[in-house]
Amino acid sequence: MSVKILMVCLGNICRSPLAEGILSSKLPQEKFTVDSAGTGSWHIGHQPDARSITVAKKYQLDISKQRGRQFKTSDFDAFDYIYVMDQSNYNAVIQLAKNEIHKSKVQMILNELYPNENVDVPDPYFGMENGFETVYQMLNETCDSIAQKLMAKHP
Ligand code: 4NP
Repeated sequence: MSVKILMVCLGNICRSPLAEGILSSKLPQEKFTVDSAGTGSWHIGHQPDARSITVAKKYQLDISKQRGRQFKTSDFDAFDYIYVMDQSNYNAVIQLAKNEIHKSKVQMILNELYPNENVDVPDPYFGMENGFETVYQMLNETCDSIAQKLMAKHP
């Protein structure tokens, strides 16, 4: 059975689609499934932001076929690991948790690199173009570490 990982941000059009594409590219498809969702509902059914698609393409990743969806409580049971991009995503997701098992699945994604520091992946939506490059680099580095850990844990 596949190990399921969910990436969560606010809109599901900038950060989490990139995180999905990046982590997915580092894991064997037959054993791992990676998806993404947003805590907000504005971008349900939408393609990722053009700036995320562009930075992904620069690193040979095609995220253009992803479509936005909203995080839902059943995701706690459907997924084994839930990575959130920032503290506000963390709070929004934890509010929907029904029990301690649900809560234990949720991690700030940069805590993989900086344990317990709760560093945010900055929201690049309203920022400048190079915000997306910064976000890509942060996610790429932390997803390297996450992929190594997951493959060791689920051989
Ligand atoms: P994301 O960025 O959470 O990385 O997808 C955002 C995209 C859209 C909005 C907020 C954040 N928005 O308010 O529409």
